[in-house]
Amino acid sequence: MSSHGEPIPMIARRSKGLRGEAHVPGDKSISHRSLILGAMAVGETRVTGLLEGQDVLDTAKAMRAFGAEVEKRGDTWHVQGVGVGGFAEPEQVIDCGNSGTGVRLIMGAMATTPITATFTGDASLNKRPMARVTDPLALFGARAYGREGGRLPMTIIGARDPLPVRYATPVPSAQVKSSVLLAGLNAPGETVVIEREATRDHSERMLAGFGAKVSTETTGEGRVITLTGQPELRPQAIVVPRDPSSAAFPVCAALITEGSDVLVPNIGLNPTRAGLFFTLQDMGADLTFENEREEGGEPVADLRARFSPDLRGIEVPAERAASMIDEYPVLSVVAAFATGKTHMPGVRELRVKESDRIDAMAVGLRAAGVTVDEGEDWWTVHGLGHGNVPGGVVTASHLDHRIAMSFLVMGLATRSPMRVDDGGPIATSFPIFEGLMTGLGADISREGEAR
Ligand code: S3P
Repeated sequence: MSSHGEPIPMIARRSKGLRGEAHVPGDKSISHRSLILGAMAVGETRVTGLLEGQDVLDTAKAMRAFGAEVEKRGDTWHVQGVGVGGFAEPEQVIDCGNSGTGVRLIMGAMATTPITATFTGDASLNKRPMARVTDPLALFGARAYGREGGRLPMTIIGARDPLPVRYATPVPSAQVKSSVLLAGLNAPGETVVIEREATRDHSERMLAGFGAKVSTETTGEGRVITLTGQPELRPQAIVVPRDPSSAAFPVCAALITEGSDVLVPNIGLNPTRAGLFFTLQDMGADLTFENEREEGGEPVADLRARFSPDLRGIEVPAERAASMIDEYPVLSVVAAFATGKTHMPGVRELRVKESDRIDAMAVGLRAAGVTVDEGEDWWTVHGLGHGNVPGGVVTASHLDHRIAMSFLVMGLATRSPMRVDDGGPIATSFPIFEGLMTGLGADISREGEAR
C-alpha cells in the first residue's frame, strides 16, 4: 500500500531490450546498521549513500525516539550518538513499519539498557516470529511481552544488570545474530554467537569499524563470533555500497528481456550476499563482473547483464541459500524462462519473510502458466524457455516489496502482461524502482495512468 494506505495496482508489459546504466539505491542491511551503530557511538557519524526507503526511514525515526539526533543535511545523514547504554526510554510506541531487520536489531540494541519500549509494525510485520530474538535476549535478562506466538505488538523491558551470553542460533539468520551482538554491546564480558551457516556479516564488519573488539573463528561448530562488551564506539564516516538485492531486479530483467544490455555499477559483492549472481552464471546467464575492487571494507564491482536466451535450470546448492535468501523470488522468475527444472532446496526461511515467499511466488507463477512444486523447505520451478511463458494474470504482493518487483520483472518477458495488486510496498527498499526500470526501457506503469 502507499503511505496513505491506498493500494497501487501496477502492470508490466512485454518490453523491447533494456539498455543503459541502473544506479540502484544503497544497501538496506548496511543502512539500518549505520543508523543503529551511529546512535550507539559517542559523537557524530556521517553516512552517505543511505537507502532512503521506508524501512530505513522508520529505523531513523526509532533512533530519534531513543534519544539520538538523526538528520539529513545535503546528501549526508548525520547521526549524533548517545553511546553504548545511553538510550533514553521512548515516549511513544516504536513503529517499525514493514521491517523485520529494523525491529529485530533495535530490540537487541535496547535490550541491555534498563528502559522499556513497545514495538509494533504493519500487518505483515505483526505476523512474523519474534521469539527468535526475544529467546536469546531473555538470556541477557531482558523480558518480552508480546502477542500469542511471540508476535508484535510487543513490549521489551531491558535488563538492568545484563549478563553476557553464549548463543548458537537455531535458524540461519543475520537478524538474530545481529540482535544478540547489539545486545552484547552493553553487557560486561564476552558475548559469543555461533552460527552453523554463514549469514551476512555486515554487523561484524561494522562493529569492528566502530572500534568494538569482535573476532570470528570457523570451528567444527560453525562461525564463532566473539564480542567484548561495553566498548566506547567511535563515530564513523560511512559510504553505503549499492544493494545487491536491489541490483538483482534490473539484472534479472535484462537476462530475460530480448535485446537487453544493462550495466549496474558499484554493487556490493560481499560473499555472504552475492549467491544469486553465481547461480545465474551457473544457469548460463551472460552476466559479468567488471572493475572489481574494494570500497569501505566491502568488495564491489560493476555488473553487466545481457539478454540470455539459453538459460538452463539447475540445482541451486542448499549451502548457498543464506547468501541469496532475498533473491529467490526473482530467481524463480528467471527459472520460468530457462529450459528445464530449477530446484531450490534448504529455503525454509523463505516462509517467514515479509510474506511466505514460496507460497506467494508459487501461486502467481502457476496462475501465469508455470508449473511449480513445493515442500516445506524446497521448491522447484519447471522452466518453459524463452518466449513461452504465458503470463496475463493479476498477482498479489502480500505487502512484500520483493514479490511485487519480481512479478513486474516477469511481465517484461511474458506473452501477456503481468499485473500486481499493490506496488506500494516497493517503497520499503527500492523507492526509485519504477523510474529506474522505465528509464532502461521497461514498460512498467501504474494501472489507469496514461503511458
Ligand atoms: C537481513 C537479514 C535477512 C534478510 C533481510 C535483511 C539483515 O533476514 O532476509 O532482508 O539485514 O540482517 P534473516 O536474518 O531473517 O534471514
